[in-house]
Parts: sequence; structure tokens; C-alpha cells
Amino acid sequence: MKLPICAAAVVAALLPLTAAADARLAQRNNCTNCHAIDETGRQASSMSFPELARKYGHLGEDQIVKQVRDGSAGHPPVRGNEAQTRDIVRWMLTLK
Ligand code: HEC
Repeated sequence: MKLPICAAAVVAALLPLTAAADARLAQRNNCTNCHAIDETGRQASSMSFPELARKYGHLGEDQIVKQVRDGSAGHPPVRGNEAQTRDIVRWMLTLK
């Protein structure tokens, strides 16, 4: 009976770590050259991740990953590791 409580505690403890890892991934994939991770650190060249999540979240993860990798009207192609790009986008969509 104690197991679900423990599992929840472990997840809660790991969440900040996961966010830090995702932020590092975004840095390593150069996303942060153009996008700020949060709204306090606005970058000159484009929107922050929470703004992007609000504006483009409706496109869905697959389409967003495709646009980031292949480029779109507003986006230069950014061809990092696909699995990492997907992780970053999935995380970005939680930042709304
Ligand atoms: C060279 C600058 C640059 C880099 C590097 C960059 N972006 Fe962008 N990104 C932009 C611009 C400019 C837009 C257009 C925003 C707007 O005005 O709608 C954009 C838009 C987006 C969008 C909205 C959907 C779209 O296709 O327009 C997402 C999601 C996004 N970026 C994620 C990322 C991720 C994830 C990375 C790293 C893998 C990344 N970007 C790297 C400049 C960049």
C-alpha cells in the first residue's frame, strides 16, 4: 500500500532534475541561441519557450518537431539529434 506514495515522492523529487536536463539539452542543441527558456530571459531574436508553446502548441508534437528540423516559414532548419529535439519539444509544451 505504501508503494504509490513512494513512487509519487520519487517522481516529485526527480522533476526539477528532469527540467534541468531538458534545459541543458536545449542549450546543447543551440535552441537557446534564439529562444529563452523562460519569460524572464528574453532573447532578441525570437520568442521564449513558454510563448512558443502557447502559440504553436496546437500543432502537436510531431508537426512541431518536423518544423524545427526541416524549417518552416519562420524557422531555420535546426538538425540536431531527432530524439533530443523531440524531448526538448515535449518539455517545451509543458511550459505554457
Ligand atoms: C537561428 C535561430 C533559431 C534557432 C537556433 C532555433 N530557433 Fe526556433 N524559432 C526561431 C524563429 C525566428 C521562430 C519563429 C517564431 C515566430 O515569430 O513565430 C522560431 C519558432 C520556433 C517554434 C514554433 C514553430 C515554428 O516552426 O515556427 C518552435 C517550436 C521552436 N522554434 C523550437 C525550437 C527548438 C526546439 C530549437 C532547438 C532545437 C530551436 N527552435 C532553434 C529561431 C530559432
